[in-house]
Order: sequence, then C-alpha cells, then structure tokens
Amino acid sequence: MVQLALTYKKLVARDFRVLAVIEREMGRYEYVPLEVIERRVRLPSTHVAASLQKLNKLKLVKRRLGDYVGYRLTYLGLDMLALRSLVERGVLEALGEKLGVGKESDVYSGLAPGGKRVIVKFHRVGRTSFQRIVRVRHYAAAKPYSTWFELAKVSGQREYRALEELHRVGALVPNPLSYSRHVVVTEYIEGVELYMYKEPLDPEAMLASILGTLRKAYLEVGIVHGDLSEYNVLVSLEGETEKPYIIDWPQYVERDFPDADRLLKRDVAYIVRFFSKRYGVDVDTERALKYVRGEVEAL
Ligand SMILES: Nc1ncnc2c1ncn2[C@@H]1O[C@H](COP(=O)(O)OP(=O)(O)OP(=O)(O)O)[C@@H](O)[C@H]1O
Ligand SMILES: [Mg+2]
Repeated sequence: MVQLALTYKKLVARDFRVLAVIEREMGRYEYVPLEVIERRVRLPSTHVAASLQKLNKLKLVKRRLGDYVGYRLTYLGLDMLALRSLVERGVLEALGEKLGVGKESDVYSGLAPGGKRVIVKFHRVGRTSFQRIVRVRHYAAAKPYSTWFELAKVSGQREYRALEELHRVGALVPNPLSYSRHVVVTEYIEGVELYMYKEPLDPEAMLASILGTLRKAYLEVGIVHGDLSEYNVLVSLEGETEKPYIIDWPQYVERDFPDADRLLKRDVAYIVRFFSKRYGVDVDTERALKYVRGEVEAL
C-alpha cells in the first residue's frame, strides 16, 4: 500500500479533530498555539497532547518551539483531512498506486465504494517554488503556510469547476466526481498518453476530436486550456473508436484574459504540429484556429 494510505489508517477520530482545528486556526496563526488547540478541540489536554505527539511523529503537523509552542499542518496533514472528507462523503474507499508525480501535483488511482476505479489528484502548487514563496512572504505576511495551502486549494477547485463545465457541454474530459480542499477526484480513463501512442487507427479523427474539445471549451465554456501537449491527452479505445480525452486543466484561462489568444494559438499550433510530425496528418494551423474560435464551421 502507498504511504498516504498507510498513514491514513493509523489515524483515529480524535486525530482528525485535532488536525481540523489546526487547519481552521491556520488562517489566524502561522503556528497555532497549543492552548488554542486545547481550547478548540474540547478534549482533556492529555488526549490532545498524545494526539499531537502522534501527528508530529507522522509528519502531519510541524511543531514550533520557542517563546510559545505551536503547530501548523504539513501538506501531508492537509491530505489526511481531504481524504477523510472524501471517504465520509462516500466518494472514495481506497487509495491505490501513485501514477505520477508532476511539478504541481501527485496523481493516484483509487477505488470508489462499489469498486469503481477513480483518479485522485493532489494539487501541490508552490512545491517547487515553496522555499521561495515562504522566503518572500515570510516578512510580508504573517501566514505563509496557509497562503501556500490556499493556492493549492484554488488550483484544485479551478480544475474541478472547469471539468464540471466542460463535461456538462459534452467535451471529452474526465468526469469530475468530487473535491475536497486541494484534492480532486475524477473518473479514471482507461487509456494511453498520446506521447506513447504509436499506432493510431484514425489519427485524422483524433485530431478533429481534440480540436472539437478545444472549440467547445472556447465557445461554450469560454476557456482556453493553456498547457496542451501529447502529455495531457489520454487516448481511450472505446469499441473501434479512439477517444482522446484532454486532462490537466487547472491552468486554464478565461477567453477574455489578455493572454488567452496567445495561449490558444500555442495550444492549437502545438497539437497540429504534433499530429503532422508523428502521424503525418495535414491540417492547416490557421484553419484549425478559426475552427476552434467558431469562425468556420468545419475543419
Ligand atoms: N482521469 C485520468 N485517468 C487516467 N489517468 C490519469 C487521469 N488523470 C491523470 N492521469 C494520469 O496522471 C498523469 C498526470 O496527470 P495530470 O496531467 O492531470 O497532472 P500534472 O499536474 O500535469 O502533472 P505534471 O506536472 O507532470 O504535468 C497523467 O499523465 C496520466 O498518466
Ligand atoms: Mg499533465
């Protein structure tokens, strides 16, 4: 079993209560003072102390010593709270293997109650730039850690909402199931990343479908993906038909965002060039762009 799931299984209701209190108070304190935690948890202080010691050992909280003793959550602590909500809401039953570690996320497979496979994506904005964020904000703001968590939550919620809208208009994206905090749960796409897909049945139709998804995103939802590449397309074979799902949406921009036009051009040019080089599909980039923008009705 993966580390996250092992850690989760070690926790009892009391530990989640302590974590939840620290989470809530982190908006106010960089490190939540022990006495505040004790007051809010409303359990005998020996129980709170035992729980905090356990959480500290499991690296779910970080302790501050000095003029006062205080605690903050770590990313792992926040993960536990999100998993707990998803489990309690009946979205998730088990966490499976880790599928990938990106710059800005960790992606796991998981099981929903009933045994359906799902994807559990932990947003980690600022992981690579974490040191810098903390250094820059430490002096400017009193709450660097909560700021850093807020960014991850915003990223998760952005992705969830975008997927929801896209799915509603029938775009080929994973169906979003739920989210908590910085964690998004979506349908599992049984497929192969486009960059590994060497022998397509009908590459013309696949490119048309990808452009069709970009068009729906642009015209019906009003957004531009902004990071389209062969790594963010999963090809699923459904019967005899190849369905290219576009994944990884948190960085999308609104259509009227100043940079949206440049990003749309880049997404379209990139994918058209990929299909030309890899599969020898010939589509004119300008024409494809017009199609996505709704200026022409067919490719
Ligand atoms: N719905 C899904 N079904 C199946 N596999 C998925 C799904 N979503 C993501 N994956 C797998 O996880 C990988 C990473 O997902 P995603 O692109 O959403 O994260 P990421 O933040 O882009 O990571 P990176 O920083 O590397 O780009 C994908 O390339 C894919 O292999
Ligand atoms: Mg990706």
